[in-house]
Amino acid sequence: MNSFMSWVGGKKALRDEILRRFPMEYQTYVEVFGGAGWVLFHKEPGRDKEIYNDYNSNLVNLYRCVRGNSGKLKKKLTYVLNSREDFEWLTALHRKGIFPRFRNYDRAAKFYQMIRLSYASNLGSFGAMAHSVWKDFPQIDMAARRLQTVVIENQDFEVLIKHYASPKTFFYCDPPYYATEGYYKDVGFGKADHIRLRDALLRSGSQFLVSYNDCPEIREIWAVPGIQIESISRLNNMAQKTDPGAMYDEVLISNYDTSERSRSGQMTLWDDWEEDDNAGD
Ligand SMILES: C[S@@+](CC[C@H](N)C(=O)[O-])C[C@H]1O[C@@H](n2cnc3c(N)ncnc32)[C@H](O)[C@@H]1O
Repeated sequence: MNSFMSWVGGKKALRDEILRRFPMEYQTYVEVFGGAGWVLFHKEPGRDKEIYNDYNSNLVNLYRCVRGNSGKLKKKLTYVLNSREDFEWLTALHRKGIFPRFRNYDRAAKFYQMIRLSYASNLGSFGAMAHSVWKDFPQIDMAARRLQTVVIENQDFEVLIKHYASPKTFFYCDPPYYATEGYYKDVGFGKADHIRLRDALLRSGSQFLVSYNDCPEIREIWAVPGIQIESISRLNNMAQKTDPGAMYDEVLISNYDTSERSRSGQMTLWDDWEEDDNAGD
C-alpha cells in the first residue's frame, strides 16, 4: 500500500528494490529513519514485530494520532483552508518551536496541513496546488489500520539501534543523504552522524540495509570488511521536466546476502517462517 503522506527523501521509487533485498530470516523489523514510511507501508505485515522510528517529534505525533484515532484527525482537517496566509501562519509557529505546545491532534493536523500545502513537502514554501485534503482521508484510514500492529518510536537512531540490537533484528536505514542533511531542520543531522550511524550498526550484531546517495564520501565511510555496496539507479523524478530520462544514482549498503530472496524465488516474506512466540522480545 502507499503512505498517507509525502516527505522529502521518501523511498516510493525504490521500495520494490529494497523489499526484494530483505533478509530471508529475522524476527524484528526496524525502520530507523521512518519519514513517510514508504517501505514499511509497502511491506506486508507478517509475523515479525515491526518498529517505525523517526527523531522528528511533530512527525511521530502525527503517526501516533493517525494510529490512535484517525477519525478525530480527519475531523480537525475537514475545514482547513488551502491558503497562503494559513500556510505562512503555520510555518511561523513551526519556526518558533510552538507546535509541541498544542494538544496532540491539533498539532498533528497542523503539521499534516503544512506538509500538504508546502511545495514538494519541503515545509518551507507554499505549493499553490489545488489539492483537497478530503482526498487523503481513505489513505489516512488505511494507514491507521496498517499501523495498529506497529510500535512507533521517537528516538535518535543510536539509542534506538542499541535498544533493538540482536542477531534476530533487521534494521532498514534511510538516513538524510550526504550533503542534503539540511533538508531535515527539525532534527539537525550533521556530517559526523553518518559515521555515528555506521558505528552503531556495526556494533549491533544485527542484519542491516542502508540506502544512500552514491558519492565518494559515503563509499569511503563504508569501506569496511564484510560490507557490500551495491549501485542502483532510478529515474530522477524531480529532473524529468528539464532533463527527460535523467537518472539518480544511489547505493544499498548491507552486511548480509541481499540476493538470497530473489534467488530463492520467495518474494513474500513469510513462506518459510518458523513459529516463535517470543519473536522480538
Ligand atoms: C530520507 S528521510 C527518510 C524517508 C523515508 N524512508 C520515507 O520513505 O519517507 C530521513 C529521515 O530521518 C529522520 N532523522 C534525521 N535525524 C535522525 C536521527 N538522529 N534519528 C532518527 N531519525 C532521524 C528525519 O526526520 C527524516 O524523516
